[in-house]
Amino acid sequence: MARILITSAIPYINGIKHLGNLVGSQLPADLFARFMRARGHEVMFICATDEHGTPAELAAAKAGKKVEDYCTEMHETQKNLAADFRWSFDHFGRSSSQRNHRLTQHFARKLAENGLIKEVVEKQIFSIDENRFLPDRYLTGTCPNCGNTSARGDQCEECTKQLDPTDLINPRSSISGSHNLELRETKHLFLRQRSLSKKLEAWIDSKTDWPILTTSIAKKWLNDGDGLQDRGITRDLYWGIPVKKGDQPWPGMEGKVFYVWFDAPIEYIASTAEWADANGKPDADWERWWRTDKGASDVTYYQFMGKDNVPFHTLSFPATILGSGEPWKLVDYLKSFNYLNYDGGQFSTSKGRGIFMDQALSILPADYWRWWLLSHAPESSDSEFTWENFQNSINKDLADVLGNLVSRVTKFATSKLGTTIPAGGTFGPQEAAFIDNLRARIREYETLMEQMEIRKAAAELRAIWVIGNEYLQSAAPWTVVKTDPEQAQAQIRLALNLIRVYAILSQPFIPDASAAMMAAMGSTNWSWPSDISADMHALPTGSTFSVPENLFRKITDEERIEWQTRFSGTRT
Ligand code: 2FM
Ligand code: ZN
Repeated sequence: MARILITSAIPYINGIKHLGNLVGSQLPADLFARFMRARGHEVMFICATDEHGTPAELAAAKAGKKVEDYCTEMHETQKNLAADFRWSFDHFGRSSSQRNHRLTQHFARKLAENGLIKEVVEKQIFSIDENRFLPDRYLTGTCPNCGNTSARGDQCEECTKQLDPTDLINPRSSISGSHNLELRETKHLFLRQRSLSKKLEAWIDSKTDWPILTTSIAKKWLNDGDGLQDRGITRDLYWGIPVKKGDQPWPGMEGKVFYVWFDAPIEYIASTAEWADANGKPDADWERWWRTDKGASDVTYYQFMGKDNVPFHTLSFPATILGSGEPWKLVDYLKSFNYLNYDGGQFSTSKGRGIFMDQALSILPADYWRWWLLSHAPESSDSEFTWENFQNSINKDLADVLGNLVSRVTKFATSKLGTTIPAGGTFGPQEAAFIDNLRARIREYETLMEQMEIRKAAAELRAIWVIGNEYLQSAAPWTVVKTDPEQAQAQIRLALNLIRVYAILSQPFIPDASAAMMAAMGSTNWSWPSDISADMHALPTGSTFSVPENLFRKITDEERIEWQTRFSGTRT
């Protein structure tokens, strides 16, 4: 049994997430966590809300709420939606927790002790109308790299380039739109990550099995222009983690907070500590996941995120970890994703464009969304959600292929053979050939899931459902029962056992349907199918099964058209 630590990029607190946010982070991370648990490994799956910085302040101001209250409410909302999407986090923490305050201040102290922090007096953009500095997303303007006219002061969403507010061309206040801006002096802390570039590059070069998307983004920021730049890690903001050296004040930095991208990844660690606190466990229990001197050297750590997050996770966060000089766990495998587009354009939180999590669940259960999103994950390139494609995949894959098999087998068996697992007959050459084929496909599915080849794994799972249908089609128990009822019993026994195996294999993708299939087979035996011949006899003969409620329903053309219209506008 291996020990597997999984973190998903932590979603910003600023509102309910859209499907494009989750397709590259929480959802595939959940798939992987469920698979690894199903294989019997010890898994720690961590997420949290990313509560600091300008996104939080701006959203709270828009909602007319105190930022603390806004974050508390929105954390609850996001936590409930996460449960509704069946994300199996061991803990869903908050980056505003005291644990994160203490850890972030601790890392800053260590970095300072190791000479990796410099104090810089610099000119920052100050809004004369608003009488305040405008860091990060408080400024909007044109990206100097790609010309996108609504780039934010921290990063351009179009080209992923990390920006400084002063890089923006024709900047304006994101709050008021004011151009009445000036440069004013202010003191900030910078992480001297440039001095760590060689170490970072060697570390990235050692990751030969990482997706090209991940390493190419990292290498770009290491080698473009004059290489990796030192990064400001403090801000002139009210909301955030106060700048301190451990628990000691930091002279000259009073009233300032750490930059959200400094404290957010530290929350991966802090959230695991929050998990221990919430479960009455000692520090040793979370440290064994994160401290290589306290048991974490046998942990394999996987991160999941969209491509815009990659620079922070391949360079800035590792710089914090390495620079601390302490034995914290570094990521072992970083799975990154391209973007999912929506019906001819981009998903956008700020523009309210796309389908948001609550809206999605208001029309269909989580399994439908999970299946479509995972089977169309933007792995090798950007992908696009269209309602036609969604309707097509759901109706074909879930309703016609899987749902139909389950319903056909259970209904036929109930009406012709009774409601217990039939004992008659024996498996013949056709069953033996099917079992061989199934075994080979399951082994391939395992490999793809271990490699996090999500689309290919979904296609393999679908193929596993398809061969079940093909077997039934050619075995034809509905005909055989008329001439050789014993043989029909054996065929149906195989098919019912197959439904149980499908429940186990499909559970990472469609957990609710899987639970319904397992319950219908009257079983609680979720052990991973390792000996497929034995698994075709796992359900005790004579035990009761039932016909599950319609597992999946088809999406009608009328619904598709109605939803397309309903979700074509702007969410306010
Ligand atoms: O892009 C985002 O949604 C960020 N909130 C991700 C942060 S991930 C990490 F740093 F914690
Ligand atoms: Zn750009």
